[in-house]
Amino acid sequence: QEDVFKKLVAHCKEYGFVFQSSEIYDGLGAVYDYGQLGVELKNNIKTFWYDAMVKLNENVVGLDSAIFMHPTTWKASGHVDAFNDPLIDNKDSKKRYRADVLIEDLIQKIEAKIEKEVAKAKKRFGESFDEDQFKSTNPRVLANQEKIDAIHARFTKALNDNDLEELKQIIVDNEVVCPISGTKNWTDVRQFNLMFGTEMGSTADGASKIYLRPETAQGIFVNFLNVQKTGRMKIPFGIAQIGKAFRNEIVARQFIFRMREFEQMEMQFFVRPGEEMKWFEYWKEFRMKWHKSLGMGDDNYRFHDHEKLAHYANAATDIEYRMPFGFKEVEGIHSRTDFDLSQHQEYSGKKLQYFDPELNESYVPYVIETSIGVDRTFLSMMAGAYTEEEVADSKGKKEMRVVLKLPAVLAPVKMAVLPLLKKDGLPEKAREIVDQLKLDYNLQYDEKDSIGKRYRRQDAIGTPFCITVDHQTLEDNTVTIRYRDTMEQERVNIDNLEAILDEKVSK
Ligand code: GAP
Repeated sequence: QEDVFKKLVAHCKEYGFVFQSSEIYDGLGAVYDYGQLGVELKNNIKTFWYDAMVKLNENVVGLDSAIFMHPTTWKASGHVDAFNDPLIDNKDSKKRYRADVLIEDLIQKIEAKIEKEVAKAKKRFGESFDEDQFKSTNPRVLANQEKIDAIHARFTKALNDNDLEELKQIIVDNEVVCPISGTKNWTDVRQFNLMFGTEMGSTADGASKIYLRPETAQGIFVNFLNVQKTGRMKIPFGIAQIGKAFRNEIVARQFIFRMREFEQMEMQFFVRPGEEMKWFEYWKEFRMKWHKSLGMGDDNYRFHDHEKLAHYANAATDIEYRMPFGFKEVEGIHSRTDFDLSQHQEYSGKKLQYFDPELNESYVPYVIETSIGVDRTFLSMMAGAYTEEEVADSKGKKEMRVVLKLPAVLAPVKMAVLPLLKKDGLPEKAREIVDQLKLDYNLQYDEKDSIGKRYRRQDAIGTPFCITVDHQTLEDNTVTIRYRDTMEQERVNIDNLEAILDEKVSK
């Protein structure tokens, strides 16, 4: 699996999906740029989300709020005081780690021991092996499971109590070693705020410290009344926005999974107090359906309920996707109560209430939030789509092809138009087809190399349809359409191409 992940990262670079930021200067940690195909895929993901949230739901509207916000916003939201990661340093290597990540890795290592034991037994007993029975009786598995449960219980309590000494003690008691120095020589755990700060204005005019937003949500909260009043919105209603967010992540790992500059697609749904759990369930279902509709396999998604709740939430769950490095969070769904609006009301001194005509009373609404990372969705789509398969070439010889099985709606290039030869008027005819469709779909024209090579190039970037223009085209206005996944080909009339694209791409 690690191997697949390395290949995927290399593929993203080779075909212009993702580059390291400032690569000519050896890059900048956990910051990435999207190349010519990456930007198309990313835009398609954003449109697919925005349409599902705003176009499909009459009571959800859009917003595009600024990245910079009044500094008091972050006092009120709790980010200045509570948006922290617990850090620990190894005194020998001078390397810094997140204490919670070290403990999670520790648990994963013990889980791996159990899996190894199970795999060994499976091999020994063959067909008749009963995994559940084995796990509940084997003494080594039981001892390891007990160890995991004990660490887990201590860890959850320490996080909830914000007990930094206990976090360190868990690391010491379990003899966690630094992966670099191999020693157990740890400093104390301390909190580190994840917000990036900068200054606005020159010092002479009394510059003030401001932050790069660590989530887009606060821009929605502070605009709650603006949108509600000017849009004459009635509760329940939602405000959705897509935008950049910034976090000074300490452990920057796994490519675009954890970045310092990333993009979120968030929606705050304002509801009557007391109705939040109903809407929490509603949006959980709605969001899971959205993920599954992308066709990456229902088994590759799961919910993961939070044990430790963020400072603003009374219920929270993640939608996780099976990445090459395990199930990981792609989206968070949070019941944020009236925490944010009440805090902003208090800090700003402005009423942030809604008059409910049905109840004939005013209240601060409760909020259900859906918050998904564009970059993590991108990564999940690339990971799910990346396929290496053995196929036969035109002479029947076996060869490997790399194909990105992206859903057509997200594919960066929808159709490639390929003249069979660079002469006899075939390029001109192919250009004509491109010109006919290019305003509605992202198309590519390619006349270089053999047709087989051109098909492979399109497979590697996930183009669902290749159209070949040949001599017959000039006679009867038909072309061959070749389907990416099945590699089947059929002859269709040029006049039908738009309908085919319409049907397959919008599915
Ligand atoms: N407003 C709520 C909020 O920001 P979160 O769980 O911290 O909640 C939501 O973040 C989503 O944003 C995550 O599920 C993830 O997809 C994305 N995200 C968060 N931090 C990220 C990072 N450092 N790099 C890439 N994506 C990130």
